[in-house]
Amino acid sequence: MREREGRGWCQVVVGCQWGDEGKGKVVDVLAGDVDIVARYQGGANAGHTVRVREREFILHQIPSGILHPAKRCLLGNGLVLDPLQFFEEYDTLRARGIEVEGRVGVSWRAHLLLPYHRLLDRAAEDRAAEKIGTTGRGIGPAYEEKVGRRGIRVVDAADPERFSALLEAGAARARRRLAAMGSTGACGLDGETGRCLELRERLVALGTDTGREVVDHLSRGRRVLLEGAQGTALDIDHGTYPFVTSSNTTAAGAATGIGIGPTRLDSVLGVVKAYTTRVGNGPFPTEFGPAMDERVRTLGNEFGATTGRPRRCGWFDAVIVRYAGRVNGLTGLAVTKLDVLDTLSELRLATRYRLPEGETAEFPPDTLSLEAAEPVYETLPGWERPTSAARRLSDLPAAARRYLERIEELVGAPVEMVSVGSRRGEVIRLA
Ligand code: IMP
Repeated sequence: MREREGRGWCQVVVGCQWGDEGKGKVVDVLAGDVDIVARYQGGANAGHTVRVREREFILHQIPSGILHPAKRCLLGNGLVLDPLQFFEEYDTLRARGIEVEGRVGVSWRAHLLLPYHRLLDRAAEDRAAEKIGTTGRGIGPAYEEKVGRRGIRVVDAADPERFSALLEAGAARARRRLAAMGSTGACGLDGETGRCLELRERLVALGTDTGREVVDHLSRGRRVLLEGAQGTALDIDHGTYPFVTSSNTTAAGAATGIGIGPTRLDSVLGVVKAYTTRVGNGPFPTEFGPAMDERVRTLGNEFGATTGRPRRCGWFDAVIVRYAGRVNGLTGLAVTKLDVLDTLSELRLATRYRLPEGETAEFPPDTLSLEAAEPVYETLPGWERPTSAARRLSDLPAAARRYLERIEELVGAPVEMVSVGSRRGEVIRLA
C-alpha cells in the first residue's frame, strides 16, 4: 500500500460479485500494514471467514483486522449494528484469546438492529410471493426504520430512560406490523429486546466518532483500510434490485458509511472469486448446470458462512465485474480461490451478454432483462496442477497466468493479489 506524504493512505476493499468473494481473507492479508480497519455498511448478514494457522474465525460484524494484534477496529455509522450478536462475537473472540479490549469502536451514529427487526424480516419473507432469500438477520427492516427516520442509534443508548422508551416504542411498532402480517412473534422488553437494555453500558463505552478517528489517523500519515461487506451486485442502488441487500456496498458507500469525504479515499481494491457464486434468489447469468454446480460447490466449500445455505455456483462473469469496475472506480483486483479451479480441464469466461432482442451488452442491463440475458463465453484451457504453493506469479502454471491476464483485460483493472488457499500465507502479492 503506497503512502502520500503527510496524508496517510486510505484503501477501500470492496466485493465485486454477489458477496462471499473472500474479502475477509484479503483484509486479513492487508491489515498487517495498516493502523485502522473499519466496516462501513451492512450488519450481521456478513460472514467473513479467516483462517489463521489451523484456527478458523467467522466474523459477522467486527472487522477482520481484529485478528492482527493492536489494530484499531471501527464499525461505522453506515452499519445496522445487532448488539446481541455483536457482543456474542466480541466475547467469543475474547474467550479464544484475541485481545479485543480498547481496540473496538462503534459509531455514535450507527443504527441498532433489534431482535424485532429479525422477526419482521422473516415474516416478510414468509409471506412474499417473490422471495429475496435474505439472511433473515433483520437487515431490510432495520434500514427501513433508519430511512423512515424512526431508527434507534448508538447515541440514543447514552440516556437509559430515553433508550428504554425508544425500545418499548420500537417493539410496539413491530408488534403492530407483525400482527398485520398475521405473525405472532413476541418482541417486548421482557424478551430479547430487553437484553439490549442490559448491554447498554457496554455499548456506550465503545461509542466514538468514526469519521474523526479516521481523519485524525490519516492526517498523522497513518494507513486505514475500509472493509466492505456483501458485493457490488447486491448494492441497493447498483445491484440486481430487488434481489439485493439494503445498503450501499460499493466504494462510495465507504465514505458515507464511515463519515469521511470521498476525496479521502486513495485506492479501491475489488475482490473477485476466480469463478462466481450467489446465495439467495435473483438472476445469475453464468450459473452452472447441476453437475458442475455440485462439483465446484464441493471443491470450493461453497456454503454460506452466516446461514450455511449452499451457494449457487457459476463461471466468472466479466460483465458483472466490468460494471463493478465502473461503479467502484477500481484501482486494482484481488482474485481469490484460484486453487478451486486447479482440477478443471477447461474454463469459461463470460465476456458479454446476448439480450433477447439480439443485441449484445458489455454491461448488465436491468434485472428483468438480466433474467433473459445469455452469456457469450470464451473458453480457456485449465492448468490441471495444484497452485496453493505459489507465492509469486511465476510459480503459477502458464494457463493460470493466462486466465488472470484475461480477467485483467476484460475488466480493465490490474490484478494486485491472488489468493491460492484459505490460509493466511497462501497468497501472491503483486502490489
Ligand atoms: P439481506 O442482506 O439479509 O437482506 O439479504 C439480501 C440478499 O443479500 C440475499 O440474497 C442474501 O443472500 C444476500 N446477502 C446478504 N449478505 C450476504 C453476504 O454476506 N454474502 C452473500 N450474500 C449476502
